[in-house]
Amino acid sequence: MKIVVADISHIRFAKDICETIEASATQRGTGIARRTEGYIITKLENSNAVIAFEGEKFAGFCYIERWDHGKYVAHSGLIVHPDFRNLGLAKKIKKKIFDYSLEKYPDAKIFGITTGLAVMKINSDLGYKPVTFSELTDDTKFWAGCETCTNYEILKLKEHKMCLCTGMLYDPKKTENIEFEETQIHEHPYNKKVWTRLKNIKQALFLKNKKK
Ligand SMILES: CC(C)(COP(=O)(O)OP(=O)(O)OC[C@H]1O[C@@H](n2cnc3c(N)ncnc32)[C@H](O)[C@@H]1OP(=O)(O)O)[C@@H](O)C(=O)NCCC(=O)NCCS
Repeated sequence: MKIVVADISHIRFAKDICETIEASATQRGTGIARRTEGYIITKLENSNAVIAFEGEKFAGFCYIERWDHGKYVAHSGLIVHPDFRNLGLAKKIKKKIFDYSLEKYPDAKIFGITTGLAVMKINSDLGYKPVTFSELTDDTKFWAGCETCTNYEILKLKEHKMCLCTGMLYDPKKTENIEFEETQIHEHPYNKKVWTRLKNIKQALFLKNKKK
């Protein structure tokens, strides 16, 4: 399996990417903003995406979008082909795009919105914190991407302040994001994962109380 920063050599996968996103959105009845093949191709041309494939078979994809003149970046459109699910591939794609994004856009805050538990788990392990939509970009073009979601009427009704998605944010300037990596106490990987999640939840609650 190859998991790489995408470029024009991957244009042959663009149709498959769109069709897999489309099929999954229809099946779930909600979810990821639908994208045209042309849009996916611009992501490949600008190397603003990560792709996974095995031989000539498309396996997974995720792309980067910049908002508020580069103050924020979002990792959107995460998709793993059904043949490759539950193998840890989404986790690897997200880690790859996360590291790449920090390198390419070091000053940008990274965020995502999702209804999916898998994505919440992955983001939380990477150091994202759950936040209200007010902490995310107010770039209208970002929120326009929600128009193809079946929950869009709810977002409009709530004046873009909340919806069924949870907002999650990683701020590279906050040093506590990396604090755990330096801790050697929890050697077992499972303990480490559970501990990181608990720590993230506690931090989110603590910061919320502090703001009041
Ligand atoms: C969501 C999706 C990307 C997950 O891909 P995947 O490669 O199967 O995920 P992984 O194997 O890397 O799993 C990551 C974690 O999520 C969990 N997970 C995976 N699918 C899950 C699901 N449907 N419900 C709850 N948890 C799930 C895994 O158990 C794992 O948890 P762990 O860290 O405790 O071990 C894939 O199912 C998909 O493409 N779905 C359709 C599109 C979609 O929902 N995209 C996200 C839009 S925000």
